[in-house]
Amino acid sequence: MNQPLIAPSLLAADFANLQKELELINQSEADYLHFDVMDGVFVPNISFGFPLLEVARNYCRKPLDVHLMITQPERYLEAFAEGGASVIHVHYEACTHLHRTLTRIRELGCRAGVALNPHTPVSSLEDVLEQIDTVLVMSVNPGFGGQSFIPHTIQKVTKLKHLLTVNRSPALIEIDGGVSQQNAEALVRAGANVLVAGNSIFKAEDPLQAIQQLKNSSLPLVA
Ligand code: DX5
Ligand code: ZN
Repeated sequence: MNQPLIAPSLLAADFANLQKELELINQSEADYLHFDVMDGVFVPNISFGFPLLEVARNYCRKPLDVHLMITQPERYLEAFAEGGASVIHVHYEACTHLHRTLTRIRELGCRAGVALNPHTPVSSLEDVLEQIDTVLVMSVNPGFGGQSFIPHTIQKVTKLKHLLTVNRSPALIEIDGGVSQQNAEALVRAGANVLVAGNSIFKAEDPLQAIQQLKNSSLPLVA
């Protein structure tokens, strides 16, 4: 099993000490910074947008993994690409013309991602696989950090892994919501490549160690 990539979710950071939190991520083994954008319409919460993206871009040396929980995300692709996003995830449920939107994300020089709500089957992606670089499987209903992991996600990851393999898709599988040291190993076993984690990193006593533990979740435990 390969070691998973780790994407700490900024939503769980201490905003009163943002620079310190970003410095911590810089020093860690994290591979991305996950940036959750919520519009209060697609999800019942409002998070943050461009001013904070600028801070993240200026102080964080990890690539930015932007998760757009907004309606009509196609309106903001240029702005997020210019703002420094490396990956842009749009929600399947928010896109009427998903193929066009994903194509546009790649044209802008970013990796194209699709996020799936817990109720959306992985088979919905069958006809657009060639346009996808990453699938973000939501393991909670999006909108808030700190929610409980939905156990069915493990089966969903197995199904998605199968779909990608059969279609020879190199797309990565990313998991978001309630990811912790308790479920990371099962997720990686099922086929997850990227683990997003908010509370289990930023609220841990030792966030650097928490990141390392998630990263090592695929390694056999030494007795
Ligand atoms: C939820 C967000 C997640 C969230 C994860 O809507 O998309 O990225 O920040 O936070 P935890 O890991 O605390 O569930
Ligand atoms: Zn997210």
